[in-house]
Amino acid sequence: MRIGVLGTGMVGNAIGTALVRAGHRVMMGSRTRDNEKAVAWVAAAGAGALQGSYSDAAAFGELLFNCTAGGASHSVLVAAGRENLAGKVLVDVANPLDFSQGFPPSLAVCNTDSLGEQLQRAFPELRVVKALNTVNCNVMVNPSLLPGDHDLFICGNEPTAKEEVSRLLVEAFGWRRENLIDLGDITMARGTEMLLPIWVRLWAKLGTPNFNLHVVVGPPPAV
Ligand SMILES: NC(=O)c1ccc[n+]([C@@H]2O[C@H](COP(=O)([O-])OP(=O)(O)OC[C@H]3O[C@@H](n4cnc5c(N)ncnc54)[C@H](OP(=O)(O)O)[C@@H]3O)[C@@H](O)[C@H]2O)c1
Repeated sequence: MRIGVLGTGMVGNAIGTALVRAGHRVMMGSRTRDNEKAVAWVAAAGAGALQGSYSDAAAFGELLFNCTAGGASHSVLVAAGRENLAGKVLVDVANPLDFSQGFPPSLAVCNTDSLGEQLQRAFPELRVVKALNTVNCNVMVNPSLLPGDHDLFICGNEPTAKEEVSRLLVEAFGWRRENLIDLGDITMARGTEMLLPIWVRLWAKLGTPNFNLHVVVGPPPAV
């Protein structure tokens, strides 16, 4: 499959590399063609890896990943060009983190709205699936890095888009089907993005970003 990865940071790099290894052709998009990090990624990832502008990558991909800073994601999609987004699935990995007051960051949008919803509203031609934003990029593409069962939340308005993304998560990244928790429509992104305040504190406490959450369900309460 042809996949456009928007973003040259550690997330774009990890996701792009895993997708190339799984046999996909991947174009990494950036604000400028020949971005230094994108060129280095192409050289390292090898055959199947390409780079270009946000618009090049969006036009190239049959499916897209948003791996850009949350505060920039809207302008990145504008730069990608609506004509290049029409009908495509966008896996939104971004978080609306606001570091303006230092660490830990706050959320630029929360409670009654989310970045995932904002992007879906602003670009109705996209089929936005929020996924992977609650784990570090090492875990995103290599869940077996962590021992035992641990879970990944996904949400979005379209069941077919969520199924397409779930297949990719299983086949390209190695997630187990039973650990994918479909929370429902894109408004559920409020919940997964609001996990970030606890995620960054756990990171500071544990001293490693390589951890995840596991939901344990007991019997229903007796009535
Ligand atoms: N790091 C993780 O493990 C992790 C885990 C879960 C979720 N996330 C989320 O995933 C996203 C990517 O994270 P990251 O750590 O890889 O990198 P990042 O530093 O958050 O974002 C890097 C990307 O954002 C783009 N960008 C930044 N400001 C921009 C602007 N004003 N206009 C256009 N593009 C802009 C950069 O563009 P250029 O390429 O042009 O420089 C770069 O491609 C973030 O939303 C983050 O919250 C990260």
